[in-house]
Amino acid sequence: MLKLAILGLGYVGLTTGLGFTKIGHKVTGYDVDHGKLARLKSGQLTIYEDGLQDILSKGLSDGSLTFTEDIGLAVSSADFIFVCVPTPQDVDGAADLSFVLASVESIRGLVSPGAIIVLKSTVPAGSAARVTRVLARTDVNIVSNPEFLREGSALQDFLYPDRIVIGAENPEAANQVASLCSSLDTQVLITSPESAELIKYATNTFLAIKLSFVNDLAALSEAVGADIRQVTDGLGLDKRIGNRFLAVGPGWGGSCFPKDTRALLRLSEQNGLPMPLIGASLLSNQKTQGRVADIVLELVGGSLEGKVIAVWGLAFKANTDDTRESPSLYVIERLLSRGAKVKVYDPVAKAPEGLTVQVCEDPIQTAKGAHCLVILTEWEEFKFLDPEEVMQGMSEKNILDTRSILPSMQWREHASLFRRLGVKG
Ligand code: UGA
Repeated sequence: MLKLAILGLGYVGLTTGLGFTKIGHKVTGYDVDHGKLARLKSGQLTIYEDGLQDILSKGLSDGSLTFTEDIGLAVSSADFIFVCVPTPQDVDGAADLSFVLASVESIRGLVSPGAIIVLKSTVPAGSAARVTRVLARTDVNIVSNPEFLREGSALQDFLYPDRIVIGAENPEAANQVASLCSSLDTQVLITSPESAELIKYATNTFLAIKLSFVNDLAALSEAVGADIRQVTDGLGLDKRIGNRFLAVGPGWGGSCFPKDTRALLRLSEQNGLPMPLIGASLLSNQKTQGRVADIVLELVGGSLEGKVIAVWGLAFKANTDDTRESPSLYVIERLLSRGAKVKVYDPVAKAPEGLTVQVCEDPIQTAKGAHCLVILTEWEEFKFLDPEEVMQGMSEKNILDTRSILPSMQWREHASLFRRLGVKG
């Protein structure tokens, strides 16, 4: 049984640690937040994610999973040390490496000879080389192993990845990291550290550009009388494009896409090779959020002053409680700034402090008295609600489905105005 230490028990670190426990390794988790450690030690999950609770409980009871406040204890007997600390956005858009560098510095004298430090945090190309200089140990290898876990399906993504990317100067160290994942049935790609680091940013940015393109096409579809769903069905049948990640929405968000696209743009600029596509995709995303607010304005007759707008969904996507850079929040801010009163419902996400909205307990109650209902997150439960019951209490029966999830025939029948993004009103 190989021994792993995980430094940083946020979203990535905790899922990675629990994933490795699940596939038979012995894992010790460490975090600077002792409150978080106490909760995890008592078997309480600190993130909202399907499938992790059972692994946490089982790991704690059979001893394959431990948590400690003592970083020395965590790393000194570990064969692999996974660095999973955040890389937030710097003032100029670049990734801030200070947590990564500080973590590595703090373990410099504690790691055993022969151990491998694995960088999971999303870091710009060249970071592994920087970390190697900070560590200044010739008996310890540094390996880049970016994560591709999606919130809401992180455990599935860990267990059934599309690929595992391992970037290392030393092929033997890369093979050792690969052997950790040998029970996972997937392709392992071994690269240089710089390539592995760039693959991570390139993946998120490519996907963000893809979505910006779809959301721009949705606006054009409305103008020319096309239906974005039919258009993306047709696009997706081309095997070179693929049919995944083509769903129209109110813009992309979350803790990764916005941060990573900006960081890649910054990296390209720092290298004197600015990538205009990335800037355009960021602009397009802002435009999409603004367009959603504009459609609401149009549906309520040109002024939001004193109008009540019901919003379903605060999370940046379904199956997570995360509202970081959620398009929903941007749309709500725009509605509020134009004088609307906003009522919101989300099955799990909480409204951030300071957001002046009325939080409701259920979707039907949220719609009561509203002049327009906007669906901003694609929660499954919204699909099955009875449109007649929802619209009964509304002041005006105007509906905007930005995620294209409601059965439109049924909803259109009961609504005064029904709009689905990407189809002419
Ligand atoms: C993303 C990547 O998908 C993961 O591979 C990566 O590991 C992670 O970032 C990270 O860097 O840690 P995540 O942020 O959880 O994962 O979210 P996604 O599922 O990728 O969705 C991102 C945004 O795109 C959301 O706002 C979502 O609503 C939107 N989206 C996604 C659409 O509007 N349409 C789609 O078809 C798919």
